[in-house]
Amino acid sequence: MFNVYYDMINKRKSFHTMPGGKKVSGPELNMINGHFDRLVPLCDDIKVAFKIVQRRTTTWKWGEYAILVYSEKKPNYLANIGYMVQQLEMFLTALDIGTCWCGIGRPAPEDETYEGMDFAIMLIMEKSEEGEFRKSMHEAKRREADKIKKGEGFDSIAEVARFAPSAVNFQPWLMECEGNKIRVYRKSMRMAKLKWDTLVFFQQMDVGIFTFFIEMCLKHENKDFTRTLFVDRGEDLKELIAEYTVNN
Ligand SMILES: Cc1cc2nc3c(=O)[nH]c(=O)nc-3n(C[C@H](O)[C@H](O)[C@H](O)COP(=O)(O)O)c2cc1C
Repeated sequence: MFNVYYDMINKRKSFHTMPGGKKVSGPELNMINGHFDRLVPLCDDIKVAFKIVQRRTTTWKWGEYAILVYSEKKPNYLANIGYMVQQLEMFLTALDIGTCWCGIGRPAPEDETYEGMDFAIMLIMEKSEEGEFRKSMHEAKRREADKIKKGEGFDSIAEVARFAPSAVNFQPWLMECEGNKIRVYRKSMRMAKLKWDTLVFFQQMDVGIFTFFIEMCLKHENKDFTRTLFVDRGEDLKELIAEYTVNN
């Protein structure tokens, strides 16, 4: 499945508006429901659940459906959501279903909790057409690789991983490379308009998305690696989340 996901790096984009009209089919909905169990977690011990609802039951304005995401609140649960939901976004892109992570949308009051867990975020989706997606990741605006990577090596990994999506396109991450190690940090900046709790809530998800991109790239280059995960406490501007040891 990682190969399918990797191939979607060029194609994926956020659909900030959706025209309406095209429908996700019944068989596609079954495939999506079936795919929830195939998403690989970053943290095995955190329970996560997904629920597809009509988008019009939420506060968001566009799209046919919303995939509501619920999670237990354990250390790194937000990074775990980022890591898992990004797989879903890539899977939907492969089906020509346009998506948008929606941090500001709220579900209906009765959907605020599910299976004993709180709502965390939603992914909006609507059937689209291949021509509506990107032809190349380079159409997206991102910081250059030398702005998100320090140290020697792993240039080809940074060159692709930098295209990971993030809330408000903040790209709050840093790769530090040393020998056969890649250390991934959440690197936030305080924003006058945003409360720290809100900022760090989304940026912990963002860095989970970024670790998923790093791993897709390592696997694509047939790199054998082990990952050590650290707890991002969400307190400091820069916190280590993962260290990769690359063995070949
Ligand atoms: C955690 C998260 C929350 C987001 N929330 C919103 C949102 O509320 N509204 C919106 O229009 N886009 C939202 N986005 C989409 C980002 O704006 C988008 O990913 C970023 O600008 C990069 O563009 P791209 O996804 O087209 O490459 C969100 C993305 C992430 C990862």
